[in-house]
Amino acid sequence: MMSCTPSHSSRPFYFGSNFKMHKTTAEVRAFVAFLKETAAVYPGVQLFILPPFTTLGGLVDIPRPANVWIGAQDMHWADSGAYTGAISAPMLRDVGADLVMVGHAERRVLFYDTDQDLNKKILNALRHDLRVLLCVGETAEQRGYGTTEETLATQLRIDLHGFDPRALDRLMIAYEPVWAIGEGSQEATPAEIEPAVQFIRGRLVALFGEAGQTIPILYGGSVNAQNCMPYIHSTSVDGLFVGRAAWQPEGFLSVLKAALSARQTVTS
Ligand code: 13P
Repeated sequence: MMSCTPSHSSRPFYFGSNFKMHKTTAEVRAFVAFLKETAAVYPGVQLFILPPFTTLGGLVDIPRPANVWIGAQDMHWADSGAYTGAISAPMLRDVGADLVMVGHAERRVLFYDTDQDLNKKILNALRHDLRVLLCVGETAEQRGYGTTEETLATQLRIDLHGFDPRALDRLMIAYEPVWAIGEGSQEATPAEIEPAVQFIRGRLVALFGEAGQTIPILYGGSVNAQNCMPYIHSTSVDGLFVGRAAWQPEGFLSVLKAALSARQTVTS
């Protein structure tokens, strides 16, 4: 296979999948083998997957290149304690996780994670040298009332409270509007996404100064091989965060290829 790097930008392109509550260890191991091949073909792309907790320990023995990250879908804010069912940052480090996602809409909505909880999780993840993928996004109701910006501003301000600017290279943001995620949701248009992404960028700069320009902002929510090209052409996102469409290697690759070909035409 030919090596192919996106030509138009020195910023890496980020591309990952959240497997949610899907896949056995054997399935994820096979996926990691596929990811390693893909990473060699696209060295300028930072790939990542977020498989279920139960599979992470079964991946430790697979060496992986620097442009493949494996992460967890959530963590608790304490290192240990009486928190039945929870997983901590030291446990994630123990199984070799590179990153942890916090604040996914399904965690916020179904498991009542508050911004204050997320802030504690993020600060503890940093203490344990994990990278953090923070998901933010408004519900349909918040968008309907015209409070998208207030929602995003509050999430970013509380979730990132006390974030050490020296650790900014370990932070990624995913803009995932709740109404655009998962089965039966509504696909967002670039015209709906871009103002929110610009707003997030502005808040990051307000919080961290010029360093806020360097934080990758990904888009997620019903992304697939058919709709991803306009997202790349007409928004300023640094990457894509995919669910259903990238759960199988073939799907992962076809969304990635479509996104990269769109990226190459943006500035060529
Ligand atoms: P879908 O791509 O299946 O809508 O899921 C997106 C998501 O939740 C990524 O975290």
